Amino acid sequence: MEINSNQYPHPVFVGSVLNDELETFILKYAKHGGDIAVICDSNTAKHCYPRVKEKLKNKFNLNFLEFPEGEKSKSLNTCEKIWKYFTECGLRKDSLVINLGGGVVSDIGGFCSSLYLRGIPFINIPTSLMAMVDAALGGKTGIDSGELKNNIGIINFPEGVFVDVDFLKTLPKREFFSGYNEMIKHGLIANKEYYLDLTDNKFLNNFEDAIIKSIKIKMDIVVKDPYDKDIRKTLNFGHTIGHAIESTYLKYSNKSVLHGEAVLLGMITESILSEMKGIMASDELKAIMSRLQPRVSKIIIDENTINEVIQLLMYDKKHTSDQLNFTLLEKPGKAIINQNLDVSQIRQSLSLLSEITKQQ
Ligand SMILES: NC(=O)c1ccc[n+]([C@@H]2O[C@H](COP(=O)([O-])OP(=O)(O)OC[C@H]3O[C@@H](n4cnc5c(N)ncnc54)[C@H](O)[C@@H]3O)[C@@H](O)[C@H]2O)c1
Ligand SMILES: [Zn+2]
Repeated sequence: MEINSNQYPHPVFVGSVLNDELETFILKYAKHGGDIAVICDSNTAKHCYPRVKEKLKNKFNLNFLEFPEGEKSKSLNTCEKIWKYFTECGLRKDSLVINLGGGVVSDIGGFCSSLYLRGIPFINIPTSLMAMVDAALGGKTGIDSGELKNNIGIINFPEGVFVDVDFLKTLPKREFFSGYNEMIKHGLIANKEYYLDLTDNKFLNNFEDAIIKSIKIKMDIVVKDPYDKDIRKTLNFGHTIGHAIESTYLKYSNKSVLHGEAVLLGMITESILSEMKGIMASDELKAIMSRLQPRVSKIIIDENTINEVIQLLMYDKKHTSDQLNFTLLEKPGKAIINQNLDVSQIRQSLSLLSEITKQQ
């Protein structure tokens, strides 16, 4: 099933990859017997590639590359391996890259495809919940450089995205809940009822419906501002602080925090900041806290983390303007972009977050 709008910058299909829809779509790019390169990480190679291979192996010349799973692979080093492999396979403009995996695979696979021969077509088949509702959609591609997340990248749209919820069967629980937090974000910025339903766990028996709701929220925003100049920034709610927490943990790599786990902490902190700035009423903040706090994983935000997070935010500041720019929340369902805050407010909100993480 194709999700409604043909005005989206790329189509999104929801359904089994075993349907003919995928094959028919691919034929527009790579002809019968044409070259396809599938990119996976070590987990999706094992759990997801066999299904896709079965479907496509007799019709196309399938090439396959895997790299070790994890955020650390989202690096220039992996890009070099991918580009070398593309060259070895002889990929050209009439070939197709299939990124089969979570956000790491779609981010780096989309990035490498966008730069190879100044751009060859690619599609995303997301296999993690995070990628199905967020990372694989909307054309943001990129890699990390050192501990700085996503700071090398380009917006370039996939030809299409194929979402098959069956892949979630092998996804580890912790990864599932990380993606779930991103869906909660969609509700918080655009649809209060959806946010309430998600935090009340109302979708357990019809989870595909929730995924479709999230895809629509994201794509309806992307279509209005594909190049991230304005309203697309609403999707950044929770991410300014979230990314800084994620980067801090990436740097001190003996502990790990997942993207969605960091975003949840970011959403809590940025809700606190929304109230501090007088945008959100105190009772709204209380209500949000009561729903989000129980979802916080065991992550300690201590004084060192706070200092590191602030330092990273200041680094960002050097590249934008004099003040730190946030997307804040007026209430569930209504986000407000371009809100400036000063460092003392941010420090105060992180101290409150620190208290919350100690209670978990
Ligand atoms: N481009 C964007 O708009 C955007 C948006 C959100 C996140 N991201 C990026 O996406 C990344 C996070 O995405 P993620 O959470 O999918 O991370 P991920 O790609 O690392 O996947 C999470 C883990 O789940 C495993 N996995 C994935 N699918 C599986 C399956 N079906 N069965 C078993 N294991 C499976 C992966 O191997 C990995 O170990 C981050 O790098 C983040 O920056 C990008
Ligand atoms: Zn995110």
